[in-house]
Amino acid sequence: MLFAVGATPKTAGVLKSEISVAIPFIDLQAQRRRLGEPLNKAIAVAVEGGQWIMGPQVSAFEEQLAEFAGVKHAVACANGTDALLLVLMAWEIGPGDAVFVPTFTFAASGEVVALAGASPVFVDVLEDTYNMDPASLEAAIALVKREGKLRPRAVMPVDLFGQPADYRAIEPIVRREGLKMLCDTAQGFGARLDGRVTGSIGDAAATSFFPAKPLGCYGDGGACFTDDDALAELLKSIRNHGAGTDRYENVRIGMNSRLDTIQAAILIEKLKIFPEEIALREKAARRYNAALGKSNRIRVPNVIAGAQSTWAQYTIQVPDRAKLQADLKDKGVPTAVYYPIPMSAQKGYAHYPSAPVPVAEKIGKTVVSLPMHPYLDAATQDVIVEAVLSSAGG
Ligand SMILES: Cc1ncc(COP(=O)(O)O)c(C=O)c1O
Repeated sequence: MLFAVGATPKTAGVLKSEISVAIPFIDLQAQRRRLGEPLNKAIAVAVEGGQWIMGPQVSAFEEQLAEFAGVKHAVACANGTDALLLVLMAWEIGPGDAVFVPTFTFAASGEVVALAGASPVFVDVLEDTYNMDPASLEAAIALVKREGKLRPRAVMPVDLFGQPADYRAIEPIVRREGLKMLCDTAQGFGARLDGRVTGSIGDAAATSFFPAKPLGCYGDGGACFTDDDALAELLKSIRNHGAGTDRYENVRIGMNSRLDTIQAAILIEKLKIFPEEIALREKAARRYNAALGKSNRIRVPNVIAGAQSTWAQYTIQVPDRAKLQADLKDKGVPTAVYYPIPMSAQKGYAHYPSAPVPVAEKIGKTVVSLPMHPYLDAATQDVIVEAVLSSAGG
């Protein structure tokens, strides 16, 4: 059965309770309606302008993005995966190098390390925040040093589900070990920790503008962030085939990773409402926490003190996930599982070194994400909450 939510109370004589409207997991069309004509106009201007790749909207967006994050440079590129890879390439991280990556993350975090020719070394996460466990990071660094086969080079904390990693604990380890820190803030761009906005944390950071991300475009897009002038110049060169000052001068190996002008135009419009959208997501997350946190059979997400999440996902843990997913599906409530298998256990990555990862193995079986977006109205959320409580509330 589908629930009548988000529909007008009475449509052509049909009662609200009789209208079946599926609940979206992320309602990008609601945002699209809100953005309306100014967005259409921005796209039309980008098309008419004729500079379809790296046009003036791209540099305007880069400036606005850097200002938003409180960082000196934002360098736009083709997607979030490339944004991570560009930084690794600029730092000349490659064969023989170790990069410490949480095992509980989207594949791209570890993938780029392997693509660069280096070795990801997997680190466990914390059960209450899903982010990199500083103690496990210490264990992974010790393991690499003990084995003596790889050279520790960088740490890549991930701001999973929108929450900043625990940089208060991770940064001192990174500095003590003389490593670089590349923050994967694909899910957490715009989040805050102690007043700092993600993007400005780390030696460099990378984000994704994949449509479902809190700040997404209408296709693929990404950006790197840094305060380091020299690194920013390198990133600009590598994203454009290693270009030198002259267009057809190639001073290093690079790649084709540019942001389309249309996507930049869309992102400029979306950035205007992004702070308000983060606040709306926060409101929805608090409502979920207040209602679902009452059940001692449901583990609701925990945000560390001094942090603000962008709530890319609202993820709970339940003992019987399969039952919850089936029950919710019957009621028209979509769910998703991020991430059932830790990277260190994935076929393509199992040969890389890893610290013990008991938490990731455990939560891979219990995590489930519920619908979350800025336009999740209270009535719809009540339907979701009731469905979750009646299935898993105990
Ligand atoms: C944690 C994380 N890192 C990296 C990426 C890669 O971003 P993209 O899909 O834009 O390449 C994503 C998103 O898909 C992600 O969730």
